[in-house]
Amino acid sequence: MSDKAKLVLGDKTIELPVFTGTEGEKAIDITKLRAETGYVTLDSGYMNTGACTSAITFLDGEQGILKYRGYSIEEIAEKSSFLEASYLVFYGKLPTATELKTFEDRIAAFDDVPEGIKTMIKAFPKDAHPMAVLSANMVSLSAFHHDLCAQDLTPPQKDQAIAQLMGQLKVMAAYAFRHSQGKDFVKSDRSLDYCSDFIHMMTGNKNVKKEVAKALDVLLILHVDHEQNCSTSSVRLVGSSKANIFATISAGVDALWGPLHGGANQAVLEMLEEIKGSGKSYQQFLDEVKDKNSSSRLMGFGHRVYKNFDPRAKIIKKACDSVLATLGAQDSLLDIAKGLEEVALKDEYFVSRKLYPNVDFYSGIIYRALGIPTNMFTVMFAMGRLPGWLAQWKEMVEQPGFKICRPRQIYTGDTKNTYKDLKSR
Ligand code: CMC
Repeated sequence: MSDKAKLVLGDKTIELPVFTGTEGEKAIDITKLRAETGYVTLDSGYMNTGACTSAITFLDGEQGILKYRGYSIEEIAEKSSFLEASYLVFYGKLPTATELKTFEDRIAAFDDVPEGIKTMIKAFPKDAHPMAVLSANMVSLSAFHHDLCAQDLTPPQKDQAIAQLMGQLKVMAAYAFRHSQGKDFVKSDRSLDYCSDFIHMMTGNKNVKKEVAKALDVLLILHVDHEQNCSTSSVRLVGSSKANIFATISAGVDALWGPLHGGANQAVLEMLEEIKGSGKSYQQFLDEVKDKNSSSRLMGFGHRVYKNFDPRAKIIKKACDSVLATLGAQDSLLDIAKGLEEVALKDEYFVSRKLYPNVDFYSGIIYRALGIPTNMFTVMFAMGRLPGWLAQWKEMVEQPGFKICRPRQIYTGDTKNTYKDLKSR
């Protein structure tokens, strides 16, 4: 096949290079299109735009495949740990035992935040959404760590930023939660692994069940990276202006909060509760969702890229059963979720639009079983996605030809208005 695409515009034909990725994906490189023809491309919602090349995550939405650095998500979820998977996305290879230990220790060393951040958390109303607190805390760290606010970080500074943010986001999330409960902060315990320590900092209990920590670890692994999703693209966009790393990551937190993205995990639980409370049948609820006059959606279903089962949802669904069994817990919301899924997957509306459960459909049920409250779910997503944001930022700033991201538009407004002074309008 030709490695050029031909574009005919009126009586002019131009050739555009075709770029092929390592998994065989093809893209038409339009970098020179405007210079050669005066045209730009128009792609609302970036449905068909490859904004960058990246060697971190591969995902095939038609076949339901997800890989981090060439390793399947199923294998990583089964055999790896959250911090090992994070190392993998940052540095492009699995660490040796020594490298992993050093990495874990570096992250564990960032076991607190400046006093000013603690004061700030305490100043928020108790019912503040923890994502608001997290976003504000994240950007505020730039006021305390000037060394990491340089325009271009050196390699050791980048390593420090990675370890520091991995450590401090965990602390800020746990502190925000404690504050919302009207309780004192619990100091991190470096002898615990990352997930056990987080649960300890939330609950004050150091004896975290191995199975509970493992379940949380797997959930975080499943969220590590997902190529150019809304929050990651926000991180790249903001980071491309050379905004400091704290401001850059805070943009990711903000984008994640929306219910069409990471906020969906909270929305799913609220939806399941609503179905339970209303006594509606699954079909009745789905009929409401399908009604084009209603703005509600089946939360946790559908995905921009997956037009098949989201592989992460499959893993989480299985984990739900085993976590509840291990904890000896039952959750009627799991039965509702399974019932809803079964009916939706047979419904012509969802079948024809290729709408399947996504990562958020079942994750909330596990968080609930682990004792994590609903308004913390999106914060958990942020903890999981932080390595992806950092890895994508690092890859971007290290790529040759790095440029500020700046899309174009096609103007559709008025063309010639004449100014009238205030009195004559
Ligand atoms: N419930 C009902 N209808 C839906 C849903 C849904 N969850 N998702 C898509 N549709 C319909 C939509 O109405 C449209 O129908 P029509 O062609 O008749 O107008 C069609 O399916 C295509 O939807 P779209 O909104 O054009 O698709 P998109 O790629 O722009 O949106 C999405 C993807 C994830 C935002 C969307 O599926 C959605 O809103 N899902 C619910 C929210 C959710 O679970 N988000 C988490 C996504 S996965 C984790 C993450 O990335 O954060």
